Amino acid sequence: MSDRIAVYPGSFDPIHNGHLDLIERCRPLYDRLVIAVLRNEAKRALFSVDERLEIIRDLVGKDRGCEVESFSGLLVDFMDQVGARIVVRGLRAVTDFEYEFQMAMMNRRLNPRVETVFMAPKEEYNYLSSSLVKEVFSLGGDLTGLVPDPVLARLRRHLEPRSGRSRRR
Ligand code: PNS
Repeated sequence: MSDRIAVYPGSFDPIHNGHLDLIERCRPLYDRLVIAVLRNEAKRALFSVDERLEIIRDLVGKDRGCEVESFSGLLVDFMDQVGARIVVRGLRAVTDFEYEFQMAMMNRRLNPRVETVFMAPKEEYNYLSSSLVKEVFSLGGDLTGLVPDPVLARLRRHLEPRSGRSRRR
């Protein structure tokens, strides 16, 4: 039987514990899991794609069956390149549904062999998003338990005011 290969695509700007929870949940279900970071020049990101790849590789790159790649262009084309038919996406709340459903239907139309599998993260990450992580950090909020340490360290490097003013964390 051929390998079951799944692709978990996203912006991951930055990766947070909700993403990591999903990776942990779906890794045992597939022989190979390719975490695919979108290269999107049109979208302003805090972390460069290379930095995101480095962070994610450090966190999960050594896990059995886990690979971390970047892609540009259509997801379905990238899936062809890696020989995958399954897209994994996290579904947090009802609000995610419309966007995710649209993407799943469009990907199916572009390639009818592609199936999207939705997975629910642990309840405590239901409200977590990369945008909120950046906003909460920049306003001095506590992100304990929501992002891995390497992400916190890099957020400090990118967003901490240079004056060295102390922040609540
Ligand atoms: O983490 P995000 O930003 O919600 O991830 C969105 C992503 C990367 C999965 C989506 O934008 C994508 O697949 N982009 C690639 C372009 C593409 O294939 N578009 C057509 C299908 S929707």
